Amino acid sequence: MSIPRPDVRHRRITAWFSPAQADAMVAIDERFDALKPCDDFRGLLADSERAAAELHDTLRNSRDDAIKLETALKQTTQICIACHKAYRNERK
Ligand code: HEC
Repeated sequence: MSIPRPDVRHRRITAWFSPAQADAMVAIDERFDALKPCDDFRGLLADSERAAAELHDTLRNSRDDAIKLETALKQTTQICIACHKAYRNERK
C-alpha cells in the first residue's frame, strides 16, 4: 500500500506558508479581518499535516490495526475534501 503523495502544486502551496510567513501572517491577521480566509486555509493545512502524520505513524506502527488505519485514512481524505470544497472547486 502506498501513501498518497501530495502533487507538485501542493508542495508549492506548502512553500507559500513557511514558518516565517505564517508568523508574519499571524501578525498581519491581528490587524486585518479581511485576511480571515487565509487563516482558515492555514488551519486546514495544519489539520492535513496532523492527519498525514497520524496516517504515517499508523502505517509504521499499527499496520495490522484495521480500524485505526481506516480512521486515519478517513480523516486524511475528509480534510482533502474540505479544503478542495472551500479553495479549489470555488475558483473554477
Ligand atoms: C489546505 C488545502 C488543501 C488540502 C488539505 C488538500 N488540497 Fe488538494 N488542492 C488544493 C488546491 C487549492 C488545489 C488547486 C491547486 C491549483 O489549481 O493550483 C488542489 C488540487 C488538487 C488536485 C488536482 C491537481 C491539479 O493538477 O489540478 C489533486 C489531485 C489534489 N488536490 C489531491 C489532494 C489530496 C489527495 C489531498 C489529501 C491527501 C489534498 N489534495 C489535500 C488544496 C488542498
